[in-house]
Amino acid sequence: MCGIVGYIGTEDAKEILLRGLEKLEYRGYDSAGIAVINDGGVSLFKEKGRIATLRDSVDENEQGTAGIGHTRWATHGAPSQVNAHPHQSNNDRYTIVHNGVIENYSQLRKEHLQNVELTSDTDTEIIVQLVEHFAKEGKSTEAAFRKTLSLLKGSYATALLDNEDPDTIYVGKNKSPLLVGLADGVNVVASDAMAMLQVTNEFVELMDEEVVIVKRDKVTIKTLDGLEVSRDSYIAELDASDIEKGTYPHYMLKEIDEQPYVIRNIITKYKDDNDTIKLDEDIREAVLDADRIYVIAAGTSYHAGLVGKQLIEKIANKPVETHIASEFLYNMPLLSEKPLFIFISQSGETADSRGVLVNIKELGHKSLTITNVPGSTLSREADYTLHTYAGPEIAVASTKAYTAQMAVLAILAVDTAHAGGVEMEFDPLQELAIVANAMETLTDQKESLEQVAREYLSVTRNCFFIGRAMDYHVCLEGALKLKEISYIQAEGFAGGELKHGTIALIEEGTPVIGLATQEHVNLSIRGNMKEVVSRGAYPCLISMEGFEDEGDAIVIPRVHEYLTPLVSVLPLQLISYYAALHRGCDVDKPRNLAKSVTVE
Ligand code: M6R
Repeated sequence: MCGIVGYIGTEDAKEILLRGLEKLEYRGYDSAGIAVINDGGVSLFKEKGRIATLRDSVDENEQGTAGIGHTRWATHGAPSQVNAHPHQSNNDRYTIVHNGVIENYSQLRKEHLQNVELTSDTDTEIIVQLVEHFAKEGKSTEAAFRKTLSLLKGSYATALLDNEDPDTIYVGKNKSPLLVGLADGVNVVASDAMAMLQVTNEFVELMDEEVVIVKRDKVTIKTLDGLEVSRDSYIAELDASDIEKGTYPHYMLKEIDEQPYVIRNIITKYKDDNDTIKLDEDIREAVLDADRIYVIAAGTSYHAGLVGKQLIEKIANKPVETHIASEFLYNMPLLSEKPLFIFISQSGETADSRGVLVNIKELGHKSLTITNVPGSTLSREADYTLHTYAGPEIAVASTKAYTAQMAVLAILAVDTAHAGGVEMEFDPLQELAIVANAMETLTDQKESLEQVAREYLSVTRNCFFIGRAMDYHVCLEGALKLKEISYIQAEGFAGGELKHGTIALIEEGTPVIGLATQEHVNLSIRGNMKEVVSRGAYPCLISMEGFEDEGDAIVIPRVHEYLTPLVSVLPLQLISYYAALHRGCDVDKPRNLAKSVTVE
């Protein structure tokens, strides 16, 4: 989704801003822009489409050493050059970039800007016009900025330039993430540390309703009331090489291949010296203490949560409900007496999940976030965090984060079972090591999976995934993966549910991918595959060693039945990848999508 960068130093700002925006491309955007400031004023460049187009439009002779930049994912107003950020106030004095959504923008316009003509359709423009409005009333820029932010309802991360002061960037945030990076005689602003690793790895995190006055040699944090706040900086544990593609053609393929290493990394991180699970005592107690767990997530993380429910209920004997965050927000079920909320989120920034977190905190309930980004909003605001240690996931289509989430959920389930005195023979660390090896076997079979994608998905209009039990949850994920990157209409169904309507969609040659990796439903799902074949479907069955059958398209190595989703999803990820490639789609940056969905 939208991204922000800012730079104030001694070097060529335009180049640093453009490079920063390129690092944020993976988050999804439809237009981009930069504003560079020097003694002569502000130069503005913005374009619809890719950063490469913006780069071509930037004046090579632009020499400013400070500026701000933005990638926009349209919410208010269509993707266009006019609606792209930065936006300027009518007298051109102020220039702004903004992430988030201003909910009361029409009301603010009516109250304060009745005679101001707006240039764009965005909510953002209201912010910059308000700053000009309050500055015209005689306020200093800082005071006008603080006053404006105090009136905003909704979410914002924002950076502002003042034509009359080329040595300052003003930033502010509420609900949307924003960091200020520190270096010697140089300071930067970024909505994601990755964008500015090119300059520094030392960052200061901002809290909601704070503003920062960023100069070359000084950074001052204040509340909206103008009170100074002091905060220590931290070193971002990110290696710039983690976010490079290396020799891979796409991040998605690299991240699929990384899964065995991620699982081994998780084993190391969650193992103590006695080879048993190492988990924070407070987390253990919070889970034990709960009478019911509510898992809240979106998209792929929701699919991991569906598997997590099975794992926690089967292994730890504790009731779990898994909910789609955006639905839970408006349709909360009756809660148990002592609920624990588990938020699953790769980015830790998903607005729908955060909305639920804010609500349940108000109700006084405890929360745990399982995330790949420990400093993220959901991690900071929940009572506890479990890290998935998957390393930065850049491709919009989530792969390694999903398997990492399920691995951590399995560990949590077993730890809860042990702590609660539930007897079992399942050793998750040992079984996860077997999973990592099985994943490697599958990532070595790219050629045959590419062949499956070519044969089944090169030209089809639609595709169905069917499975039962945990295989069904993996089918939902397989279908999501395929539709988001190849734009084939794909749906995941419970095998037994087909006859209740969906089977009407099966025509001669319709691809149906079946999963049969759970022994107790092996025969019944094979029966469901026969039903679709009798109606003309083109079947592709993925089964598991030990109960495979002649004619199965792919046989995955045997792993413990609780952990099959971690392995069975790999062929689906690879098939989706190759299908998108064969159909000429932009695998890492699918249309209309954003990596981190920071608006509701
Ligand atoms: O960062 P999160 O895990 O909270 O994101 C949730 C979804 O937006 C995300 O999983 C999305 O469905 C993926 N891009 C799918 O591949």
